Formats: sequence, C-alpha cells, structure tokens
Amino acid sequence: MRAMTLDSYGLDPRLIELPVPTPGPHQVRVRVRATSINPIDWKQASGEARPLLGAKFPRFIPGYDLAGEVDALGPGVTGFSVGQRVHTRLSGSGGGASAELVLAGLDVLQPMPEGMDFAQAAGLPLAGMTALQGLRDACRLPMSGATVRVLIIGASGGVGHLAVQLARAAGAEVTGVCSAKNAELVGRLGARHVIDYTRPDAWSGQPPFDVIYDCVGSSPGEFLPRLTAHGRFASCLPGPAVFAHAALNLVRSKKVLPVLLSANAADLSVLDALVAKKQLEVVIDSRFPLAELRAAWAKSRSGRVAGKVIVEL
Ligand SMILES: NC(=O)c1ccc[n+]([C@@H]2O[C@H](COP(=O)([O-])OP(=O)(O)OC[C@H]3O[C@@H](n4cnc5c(N)ncnc54)[C@H](OP(=O)(O)O)[C@@H]3O)[C@@H](O)[C@H]2O)c1
Repeated sequence: MRAMTLDSYGLDPRLIELPVPTPGPHQVRVRVRATSINPIDWKQASGEARPLLGAKFPRFIPGYDLAGEVDALGPGVTGFSVGQRVHTRLSGSGGGASAELVLAGLDVLQPMPEGMDFAQAAGLPLAGMTALQGLRDACRLPMSGATVRVLIIGASGGVGHLAVQLARAAGAEVTGVCSAKNAELVGRLGARHVIDYTRPDAWSGQPPFDVIYDCVGSSPGEFLPRLTAHGRFASCLPGPAVFAHAALNLVRSKKVLPVLLSANAADLSVLDALVAKKQLEVVIDSRFPLAELRAAWAKSRSGRVAGKVIVEL
C-alpha cells in the first residue's frame, strides 16, 4: 500500500510503499478514501508541537481524520462488516491516517451517516469533537433549549464553523467572529450576528456573552470583560495565559477552560446524528491528492482556511 511518511521532523512527507497492515483484536482495517488536515498534523510533523506531542521515527505516518470502507476485520470485531463506510479520528497520538490502508480501533470508529460523502465524513471527527467537547463539556452549553448568548472566535475555521452549527442546533443565539470574506458563510451556518475582527470598531455596543469559545488563541484577559457574571471562556488553543487564568477558576465566578480533545465513538455518533438531521455540515475549503499532502499542509498553515482541507485517495 502507498503511504505518506516522514523519517525525521519536517514538512516534506514522501510517498512510499509499505506492507499491508493486519488488524489486531478490536481493530478494523479501513481502505481510506479521504482524510482531512488538522493543524496538529503539520505541527506534529514539523516538531512545533514537540514539547506536548512528539512524532515516532524512523517512520511516521501523519494525520488523524479519515473516512473510507472497512477492508478487513480483526479478531473479536462485531458490529462492522467488510465494505461498510466508516469514519474516525484515530486514537492516540501516533497519527497514521495518510495511507491507503489504516488500522482503526472500535473505540473511535463510527459508520458514516447516510448521504454523507467521504470528504465531508473525513472533515468531521477531530474538529467536530473539539467543537462539541468545548461547547458541551468546557462551556456547559445546554445542548437543547435554553437561550444562551454564544460567541465563537474563529467561526470560519475547521473547529469554529462546526461550533457555530452545534451552538445553533442547541438553540443558542450565536455570534461568529470572522473576517468580512467569510461573513456570509458564518451567517448561513447559523450565526445571528457576525463580528468582523479586522474592523477597529468591531466590538462597540456588544452585550456580554454567556459562552465564548475561542478557536484562534485569543487572550482570555481580553475577553473576560465580555462575559456575563457566570460566563465561561474556553480555548482549544490554550497557551500559558489560559492555564494561568484557569488556576483562578475556584475563586472567580467567570471561568476559563482549556479544551483538549478526547476522541471517542460516542461523541462522533452525536455529531453524526446531527448530520443526519441536517443540522450539521462540513464545509470543504479545498481538496488535494495524497501525493500533494505537503501542499495541503501549506494551505492549512496559511491560517486562512474556511472549513476543512481534504486529502482524497
Ligand atoms: N485542543 C485541541 O484538542 C484542539 C483540537 C483541534 C484544534 N486545535 C487547535 O485549534 C486551532 C484551530 O483549529 P482549526 O482546525 O479550526 O484551524 P483553522 O481551520 O486553520 O482556522 C483557520 C480560521 O481561523 C480564522 N482566523 C484566524 N485568525 C482569526 C482571528 N483573529 N479572529 C477570527 N478568526 C480568525 C481564519 O479566518 P480568516 O481567514 O478570516 O482570518 C480561518 O477561517 C488550531 O491551532 C488547532 O491546532 C486544538
């Protein structure tokens, strides 16, 4: 099988032939049809994420999200069949998605929703679960009913565009922060208000928010004044300032929360159910073939992606 691999840190993966892997207990082998790029892929490959997340050499296969068809079942696998369309965010921190055949554990595997194509299904798991866990678990956003004012910073990005839709599906009044070129998209996805972060008067007259979900690495100190008295600020790009503010959560009514994705099949099934109800869609920014993984990373590294970058096999 073909796979994109690195044998040392860098952003120039190469296509090589590898033996077909054999699924172990509670694993399936998936014939990959699409993967999606997440910033962690190129941060891990480049070594930028090394203090938190290393890459294992002599051979590292980058990537976490994939969609495809079950190709073989390992011992003890029930509930999946050969040929079934599935998607996943691979578990652990070892990557592995950028290959024609990949082993996936049942703990993170879900059948693809009816009518969803491989590109969209590959774009959903990592970003979607990060959006869901940030809003539901860190921000404690009631997932049905109550009217809550939610601000999504980075509303056009991979995580943000799904967070806008999840908050909207939960009944929240959503404000999205994005640049003017993405305002229409973010509005179509469910934001009632859009704030153009490039305008100097962007924040004038904004009432406070119950929930702020930051997907771009904003300073919590800047946004605490924009929270209601018991509001929550969560960040999926938590730096030292987020942890420093989080240390004060016990003595302060406004909370600051870091979000660290925990991949699991149950949360992916929550997202899939919303896709099936047409309350959640994956916006595709661009598509690349496997051999052009480097160009797909460059697109993501530009920081200007709207939705997801997809690699098709
Ligand atoms: N903690 C975790 O477990 C976890 C999980 C997933 C992702 N992450 C991290 O979260 C971050 C976001 O991931 P992603 O996949 O959503 O990234 P992404 O898709 O690359 O985000 C790009 C988007 O950010 C927008 N943006 C950039 N600066 C902005 C600003 N100041 N205000 C508002 N929007 C801005 C861009 O819009 P414009 O073009 O309009 O600027 C673009 O649409 C990454 O750093 C990633 O590593 C962490």
